[in-house]
Amino acid sequence: MMEKKICGLMGDPVGHSLSPVIHENFARHLGIDMEYKLFHILKGTLHDELPGLYSDGISGLNATVPHKIDVMPELVEIDDLAKAIGAVNTLVRQDNGYKGYNTDIYGLSMEVEEAGVDLKDRFCIILGAGGAARTAAFLCASKGAAKAYILNRTVSKACDIAKDVNEYVGRECLLAMDISDYGSLPEIEEGYVCFQSTKVGLSPNVDEAVIEDMEFYRKVNVGFDLVYNPPETRFMQLVKEAGGTAFNGMKMLIYQAAGAFQMWFDVKIPAEVIEDTKKLLS
Ligand code: ATR
Repeated sequence: MMEKKICGLMGDPVGHSLSPVIHENFARHLGIDMEYKLFHILKGTLHDELPGLYSDGISGLNATVPHKIDVMPELVEIDDLAKAIGAVNTLVRQDNGYKGYNTDIYGLSMEVEEAGVDLKDRFCIILGAGGAARTAAFLCASKGAAKAYILNRTVSKACDIAKDVNEYVGRECLLAMDISDYGSLPEIEEGYVCFQSTKVGLSPNVDEAVIEDMEFYRKVNVGFDLVYNPPETRFMQLVKEAGGTAFNGMKMLIYQAAGAFQMWFDVKIPAEVIEDTKKLLS
């Protein structure tokens, strides 16, 4: 009999993660004997903790806040796209350590695709400039968005992302702004595709949105909140109130997990299994 595989999530906090339910559902459907564990690893301790996980035989890992960037120096190899994005969320076991990948961008790309949105030639807004915003910025640029305005409280972080992304795609697609200047965003006839990638509005602060002004939301045609808890965020409500459509980050979560699982076990997860997982979490 094949021995049980162990995978898991490293982060702080990890207690409320849905990843075990998602991965164990994939494993059950595909007949893979796997347990998905939560590893509560504090910021700054990964360098000491990761070798222990490797020697315990862990097949694959996901990295979440605050390790998506800090994990990079601890890896034996990093996939080119993950390197360009500057964030790793998936670790795949090799003979001498772990190789890092970014499946968040695949997750977000699937979320956008299933919402029927084509980013090509669209005008986009990205709220925030953390790891999640980086993923959204790379997606907009690589899918051919006309322009993506990246708005953040700390403008220098938005400038850093804009610089990295523009260099990568070889054109001035990203434009950084202070979030308080949202009023100066140009009017676009078809409206913006807006990615909410700040922490504002995350449970338990469900009554908050990073921008409250309805004038801003009138410019938004479709909103993606990268937050999935609560399932309908204040940001999503505001987009809808202004006449737009809005989606949460649940599909992104499921598809980033699928991307990781497929690499760990060299399998293709059938569409029915993805659909079953969506139902399980709805
Ligand atoms: P992640 O990796 O999940 O994206 P992060 O790197 O901590 O998380 O980024 C969180 C984002 O939320 C940042 O853009 C942060 O703004 P700053 O860069 O100015 O810190 C944004 N954010 C968090 N709390 C905020 C608040 N109260 N108002 C505005 N932006 C906020």
